[in-house]
Amino acid sequence: DVSVARPSLHLLIAAPRGFCAGVDRAIRIVELAIQRYGAPVYVRHEIVHNRYVVDGLKARGAIFVEDLDEVPDGVPVVFSAHGVPKAVPHKAEERGLEYVDATCPLVSKVHRQAERLVADGRHILFIGHRGHPEVIGTFGQVPEGRMTLVETVADAEAVEPADAANLAFLTQTTLSVDDTAATIAVLKRRFPAILAPRGEDICYATSNRQAAVKAIAEQCDAMLVIGAPNSSNSLRLVEVAERGGIRARLIQRAADIDFGWLEGVSVLGLTAGASAPEILVREVVDHLAARFAITEEEVATASESMVFKLPRALEAA
Ligand code: F3S
Repeated sequence: DVSVARPSLHLLIAAPRGFCAGVDRAIRIVELAIQRYGAPVYVRHEIVHNRYVVDGLKARGAIFVEDLDEVPDGVPVVFSAHGVPKAVPHKAEERGLEYVDATCPLVSKVHRQAERLVADGRHILFIGHRGHPEVIGTFGQVPEGRMTLVETVADAEAVEPADAANLAFLTQTTLSVDDTAATIAVLKRRFPAILAPRGEDICYATSNRQAAVKAIAEQCDAMLVIGAPNSSNSLRLVEVAERGGIRARLIQRAADIDFGWLEGVSVLGLTAGASAPEILVREVVDHLAARFAITEEEVATASESMVFKLPRALEAA
């Protein structure tokens, strides 16, 4: 009944949100690889952790696999933005496969630091989440036993490295800025001589998206984060919102919105993880607009202009 007024809902939309330069580049690499080599192009692991993106690329001729063994001979393969252990490109070379590496340059930077530190005889304490592909990729840059995973403050308190005087630490790029600072503080207290990375390993996109959520959380009743359940940076955005004292939920698509959960909410925060395309933000806003009289406001806490170069092999495409 159009005469019944819809409840009003004010949206605070975070900026920056959504795609980072590394995700943008990785998706572009798959598109260009399909253009250049023709379909199918194999992709090892979800190119970025987003089903909408993956399905879109599948429709254009990408085939996603978890293991290089699933790639047939003579077909090009792309490695995902999260990075791969060294053994993967080695194996591809052994098999004579053409490959394009879509590892985010900011992840590669951590890889090179890891190699250098181990070459200098250091043992690395790596702060990250067990099982995440980026962590597996970074561990795979150095010989086994040269890097120890530290997941939490409790791990940092408990870890007993063999050569405590000769340590360095590095981190995953998509961690919680605040949790990581606490973990690093413990490591520095316990191992005063530990070598810190040059600059931050947590990337600009991760920090900026978390800062934007923090700012918005002060002004809203609840927050929706668009992202995948296996997306590390998206999960961290939910945590940041919750720590800001509000309810927060991760959704993949508009269809996941639980209107019951939104009851009593008059100001709703909205953001998207680094692997979630803007089209999904619009989809969510439209879905909300069908139910509520919405007003939109973008809250910008930073502006981003980062762009990464494409691999040389594809630049010409
Ligand atoms: Fe790279 Fe950070 Fe995005 S490491 S892929 S720019 S979230």
